[in-house]
Amino acid sequence: MIAFFSGTGNSKWVAQKLGVLLEQEVVNITSVASDDFIKVKILVIPVYAWGVPRWVKQYLITAELPQKIDIVLTCGDDIGMTDVELRNFFSKRNSRMNSCHSLQMPNTYVALPGFDTDSQDVVSKKMENAHIRLQVIAERLKDSKEVIDVVRGGFPRIKSYILRPLFNHCLTGDKRFKVDTKACIHCNRCADICPVQNVRMTDEGIPKWLHHCADCSACYHVCPKHAIQHSSFTKNKGQKKLI
Ligand SMILES: Cc1cc2nc3c(=O)[nH]c(=O)nc-3n(C[C@H](O)[C@H](O)[C@H](O)COP(=O)(O)O)c2cc1C
Ligand code: SF4
Ligand code: SF4
Repeated sequence: MIAFFSGTGNSKWVAQKLGVLLEQEVVNITSVASDDFIKVKILVIPVYAWGVPRWVKQYLITAELPQKIDIVLTCGDDIGMTDVELRNFFSKRNSRMNSCHSLQMPNTYVALPGFDTDSQDVVSKKMENAHIRLQVIAERLKDSKEVIDVVRGGFPRIKSYILRPLFNHCLTGDKRFKVDTKACIHCNRCADICPVQNVRMTDEGIPKWLHHCADCSACYHVCPKHAIQHSSFTKNKGQKKLI
């Protein structure tokens, strides 16, 4: 069984491709009871701030873990020390991370200055490469190869051990989300896409955030009117096409 967590669809897309290549069932982790996680052989998740998304970590803490697991991480660029975080996490709980691959996909992080969605050229290139790389990853997973094949990027320790805690402390959660009520067309897409049901529509048809956000940015990207701002920096930022 392949489980995924996904905000804007990158990790879901990867899980579904692997599901076809490996002829395995694909499930959304948000609908897998923690007792049933023991059946999961491959976990596909995005990297948030050079680490495991907070929601996924919380889920894994209470989940019954399989003896060994293969991990595929989707990211915009690089993963920092996420593979080490996962290796340590599983080994402390009498489980084992057998392999870890990272895969570059269209970027979804836009909330800080200097971060934006990828140009169409970059998106096309990443998707082309992803198709090729997934064949390689699938072959290795088929053979149960023990392998760490990831892009940690420059200064991975600084990113994961210094910047990440700061990010988690100051920049996670939904407190900075704002909606332009005049632009909103009450289409519900932001509520429908939220993987953790953190967006509810008010009686006036305006989204309201419920403070258990998983940080995925999907509600920002999906809005057809760019009516949702993730921070004061996102007004002129791009929106990733959902896949
Ligand atoms: C809050 C947040 C933090 C992110 N941090 C990173 C990061 O540290 N490194 C990176 O390469 N991409 C980062 N990204 C980009 C995502 O990892 C990437 O686009 C991923 O494929 C999104 O997957 P999804 O569509 O399944 O949610 C981040 C995205 C978000 C929303
Ligand atoms: S509220 Fe938005 S950013 Fe938070 S988990 Fe839901 S869709 Fe993702
Ligand atoms: S996706 Fe945008 S337009 Fe649709 S309900 Fe949400 S804020 Fe309004």
